Amino acid sequence: MTETLVSTYLCMTKDIGLGGNLFGGVIMSWIDEAGAIYAYNQTKAERLVTVKYTEIVFERPVRVGDIVTFYASNPRFGRSSFTFDIEGRVEGGVVCHTKGTFVAVDESGKPTPLPGKA
Ligand SMILES: CC(C)(COP(=O)(O)OP(=O)(O)OC[C@H]1O[C@@H](n2cnc3c(N)ncnc32)[C@H](O)[C@@H]1OP(=O)(O)O)[C@@H](O)C(=O)NCCC(=O)NCCS
Repeated sequence: MTETLVSTYLCMTKDIGLGGNLFGGVIMSWIDEAGAIYAYNQTKAERLVTVKYTEIVFERPVRVGDIVTFYASNPRFGRSSFTFDIEGRVEGGVVCHTKGTFVAVDESGKPTPLPGKA
């Protein structure tokens, strides 16, 4: 399976939640940013919106000083939609994984075919 290293983040003290680990909302924002980068790179669409992430599983805690790297794989091209798998890893293993879908839209926000799918 071909996978692409998309982006890397450093967990800092400002990112920590009350439980003492990386706050879930922060890592979800990192997932969506990495997903967007991957979707734009793969589709070459002008405008994409996030339509869905399936179940997001947090497998293990991320702590201050950990470097989280996101890898995307298994790209699937629909008419206007693009779906992929994405996971975050720290040294030693997977910390989270999910599946994302973006949709290409026009200026009014309506779905439009991906480049090459018109
Ligand atoms: C994404 C959006 C444009 C889709 O509009 P829609 O009227 O439901 O679109 P359609 O039913 O015509 O479907 C268009 C494509 O989206 C896919 N899609 C729509 N809802 C989906 C869902 N819940 N899960 C997976 N794919 C979905 C369809 O399968 C279709 O794919 P295809 O063209 O490859 O066959 C609309 O739901 C939207 O604007 N959502 C808000 C997006 C947003 O603000 N995101 C957060 C910030 S980026």
